[in-house]
Amino acid sequence: RAGTMLRTGIRLLALALCVSAGGDFDWTKNEKTSFYYGTFPTGFSWGVGSSAYQTEGAWNTDGKGMSIWDVFAHKKGKISSNETGDSSCEGYYKFKDDINLMKEMKLSHYRFSVSWPRILPSGLRSEHVNEKGIRYYSDLIDLLLDSKITPVVTLYHWDLPQVLQEKYGGWQNASMVGYFNEFANLCFERFGNRVKLWITFNNPWSISVEGYETGEHAPGLRTRGSGAYKAAHHIIKAHAKVWHTYDMKWRSKQKGLIGISLTADWGEPVDVSNQRDVEAAERYIHFYLGWFATPLFHGDYPAVMKEYIGRKSGQQGLGASRLPVFSPQEKSYVRGTVDFLGLGHYTTRYVTQKNYPSGFGDSYFADRDLAELVDPKWPDPGSEWLYSVPWGFRRLLNFVKAQYGNPMIYVTENGVSEKMLCTDLCDDWRMQYFREYINELLKAVRDGVNVKGYTAWSLLDGFEWDEGFSERFGLYFVDFRNKNKPRFPKASVQFYKRIISSNGFPSQREVESWKRKAVETCSSSNQLLAADPLIGHMEMVTEIVVPTVCTLCILLSAVFFMFLLRRRL
Ligand code: BGC
Repeated sequence: RAGTMLRTGIRLLALALCVSAGGDFDWTKNEKTSFYYGTFPTGFSWGVGSSAYQTEGAWNTDGKGMSIWDVFAHKKGKISSNETGDSSCEGYYKFKDDINLMKEMKLSHYRFSVSWPRILPSGLRSEHVNEKGIRYYSDLIDLLLDSKITPVVTLYHWDLPQVLQEKYGGWQNASMVGYFNEFANLCFERFGNRVKLWITFNNPWSISVEGYETGEHAPGLRTRGSGAYKAAHHIIKAHAKVWHTYDMKWRSKQKGLIGISLTADWGEPVDVSNQRDVEAAERYIHFYLGWFATPLFHGDYPAVMKEYIGRKSGQQGLGASRLPVFSPQEKSYVRGTVDFLGLGHYTTRYVTQKNYPSGFGDSYFADRDLAELVDPKWPDPGSEWLYSVPWGFRRLLNFVKAQYGNPMIYVTENGVSEKMLCTDLCDDWRMQYFREYINELLKAVRDGVNVKGYTAWSLLDGFEWDEGFSERFGLYFVDFRNKNKPRFPKASVQFYKRIISSNGFPSQREVESWKRKAVETCSSSNQLLAADPLIGHMEMVTEIVVPTVCTLCILLSAVFFMFLLRRRL
C-alpha cells in the first residue's frame, strides 16, 4: 500500500512538473490564438533598443568621420523624400533625457550601437582615435550604469567608415576582418570594464542582401547572386575573430559575453501536408537565419544552401559555387563562437515551392526556389513588409532551440511601425502587437527555450533606413519638424511599463485593464503634440523675432542719440 501511495505521489508530481514545465504547450499544434496568463522567470531582462545612425544625428560633429550611410543618404533618390540621418533624433546631445525616459520605464537594459567612424574617423585604429567620440560613449555607459540600466552594445549596426568602402570595397574585401577586429578591440579596451554584453553585428542578412544584392541599403551595390554571399562570408569570419580575440585577451578580466544579432522571419508552409512546401519553408529559414547561425553553431553553411547554390552555379556554367567555402581550419575557427544569440524578429511569411530555372539570372532570391505569401487578414499597420503574426515568433524560437542546441537567447529586436503621417499617440495596434508577441515569447519560455531577455524596438522613432522618417517604430514619438526633436510617449509606453512591472501577464483581469488605462493617459499626450507647432512657433519668436527687434531698437536709439547730440552741438 505504501508502494502504491508512493507511485501515485510520483505520478502526481510528474504531472504537476509536466504542467508547470509547459507540457500543455505543443508548438506544432495549430494552437495560434489562445492567450497564456503567467510570468517570466525572475531576473528576466526587459529593455529597448536603438542604433547610432538611426538616432544620434551629429553626423559631422566633434571629429566624426563619414560612414557609408552618411554618403548613401546624401545621394539623391536613395532614401524616401531624400531624407538623411544628419540630425535625426539628436540623440548625441539628448542622451541624458533619453536615459530619464528609460528610468521611468524601469528598464533593465538598453541596447545601442557604437558608430565606428565616430571613434575611428578613417576606420583604422593606426591612423586616428577620436577621443571626443570615445567620451560620448563612455559618458553614455556611465550614466546608464548609474541609472541601473545594463548597456548592451552593438559594434556594427551598418555604419561602416566610408574610407573602408572606398579603399577596399567594404565587406566584399577580406581585409575588413582585421580592421573590424581592431575597432572591436579598441571598444573592449575603453569600455569593456563596464560593458558585459557585446553584439558584434546587427542583422548581417540585411547588410549582405540589402547592401550588396539589391542595393536598397548602403553601400548600394547590386552584385546579384555573389556579392551578398561574399559579404556574409567575411562578416562570419569577422565575428569569429572578434570572439577569439575577446576569449584570449579580455574574457578572464572583463567577464563579458560576445553574441551576434540575427534577424529572421518565420516561414510557415502554405500546405503543411505537402512535403515540397514543408521543405521550401525550411529552406526559407535556412537561407535567412541558418546562413549565419549554422556556421557559428555547427561550423559550416546549411547543407541546403550548399546544395542549391552549388547546383545552380553549375547550371550557370560557373566553375565553382557562388557560395564561398570554409576550409577545415576555418570551420573549426567559426564553430562555437556565440556566447549568446541575439534574435531580431518582426514578421512571418507563408512559403511554397517555386522553381526558378537557370537562365532566370543569378540572385540570392532565385537560389531559394520558393515563393513568399501573406494572409491578407494579417494586420499590417505600418511598414509594407511587417504583418503581425504572433504565433510565428514562438515557432522561430523553438526552431532555434531544436537546431542549435538550445543556446542562450536575448531577443534583441521586436516591434511594429506606423506611417509618418499618423500622429495618434494612442497606438492601439502597437499595444496589441506587444501583448501578443510577448505572450508567444512567454509560451516559448514555457516550451523550454532559453530566453534571458527581451528588447522592444525601438525607444524612439528614428531614421528608418531607405524609408527615411516615413515609418515610425518608436515607443516615443519624435517630432522631427521641431529642431529640438521633442519626444512624446505613445500609449504603448504605459503598456510596456505594465508588462515590465508585472514581469509578464499576471491575470486576465489585470491585463485587460492595462490597455484602457494606457489609452486614458495618451489623449493628454495627443493634446500636447497637437500644441507642438505652437511650441515651434514660440521658439521662432524667442530665437529670431525678439533678438531682431532688440537689435533694431538699439540701432534706432543710437541713431536717435546721435541726432540729439548733433542738435546740441
Ligand atoms: C534593423 C533596425 C530597423 C528594423 C526595422 C531591423 O532589422 O536592425 O535598424 O529599424 O529592422 O526596419
